[in-house]
Amino acid sequence: MDAIEIKQLEKIYTEGKKALDDISLVVPEGTIFGFLGPNGAGKTTTVKLLNGILNPTRGEMRVLGLDPVSQAEKLHQSTGVLTEHAGMYDHFSGIDNLRFFGQLFGMTKAESETRGMELLEKLGLTDAAEVKLKSYSTGMRQRLSLARTLIHRPKVLFLDEPTSGLDPESTKSVNELLLELSKEEGTTIFLCTHQLRYAQEICNEYGLMDNGQLLALGSLEQLRRRTFDHYKLIIETDVMPPSLNSKRIRENVYEFSFQEKAEVPQLVKAIVQQGGNISQVTPMDYSLEDIYFALLEGGEEHV
Ligand SMILES: Nc1ncnc2c1ncn2[C@@H]1O[C@H](COP(=O)(O)OP(=O)(O)OP(=O)(O)O)[C@@H](O)[C@H]1O
Ligand SMILES: [Mg+2]
Repeated sequence: MDAIEIKQLEKIYTEGKKALDDISLVVPEGTIFGFLGPNGAGKTTTVKLLNGILNPTRGEMRVLGLDPVSQAEKLHQSTGVLTEHAGMYDHFSGIDNLRFFGQLFGMTKAESETRGMELLEKLGLTDAAEVKLKSYSTGMRQRLSLARTLIHRPKVLFLDEPTSGLDPESTKSVNELLLELSKEEGTTIFLCTHQLRYAQEICNEYGLMDNGQLLALGSLEQLRRRTFDHYKLIIETDVMPPSLNSKRIRENVYEFSFQEKAEVPQLVKAIVQQGGNISQVTPMDYSLEDIYFALLEGGEEHV
């Protein structure tokens, strides 16, 4: 089943700003979907619409088969949303906050405590469990917000910039937790982020937004194929025949672009035949970041 379905969604704010222009996409259950795009692209607007926080101007949406506008309350039992402003209580400790929100979702005190402590541990907050939220640092607060979002084991998770402002170590633990949720509990994760390197590590599908339009949709491989029609290869060699069309990166290191993988053995043979000692051949894959910039610069037709 598709966890999220969006059809021809449009959002025009009252001031007249068209924040979403005819967006259609589906996110199958269990997917970690990276929703990417520059500032003002429409990512947060989409998350708010999918959570019934905003009403659409036009179009259709379903989350777990439910309409976020008319069935918000029912939907919120099975979804979790993390936005910039997660309301929690400053004078409560970390675990008290989690217990409180767990009970709001109908969990018992004991259940919310067990689940809460488990999440605190996964997010590196065990030592801060009994500390009042008002003494938390920004990054600690952010991790606690994520724990709060996860307390009731949501089936669909909406995360708007969950790791911005986190140090690399905390970012890693958040990413590990998200992967675990997706693998072990089949949680669908709709992830808005600017951290492309981390997104590439965990997402299996992507949507790229720009200025209210969806520029591209698909897996990394699909986006790669769509964006670049060639491969790249780095060769380290002491001799590089000038007849071969290479780009020198630094001493003894050269980059090649080619269309077909079958060209590689010929290339290596030509270097060796002309006296080159090859010490390393490294295929280069275009990263999500390469693809992101290429697609944005290309200003492709929207899907
Ligand atoms: N409440 C609002 N009223 C009017 N316009 C808004 C409102 N919220 C957002 N917008 C506009 O809608 C567009 C999309 O904003 P949105 O917050 O969805 O972008 P975003 O992709 O989340 O950007 P960012 O990466 O900066 O978080 C922007 O042009 C923004 O100025
Ligand atoms: Mg945003």
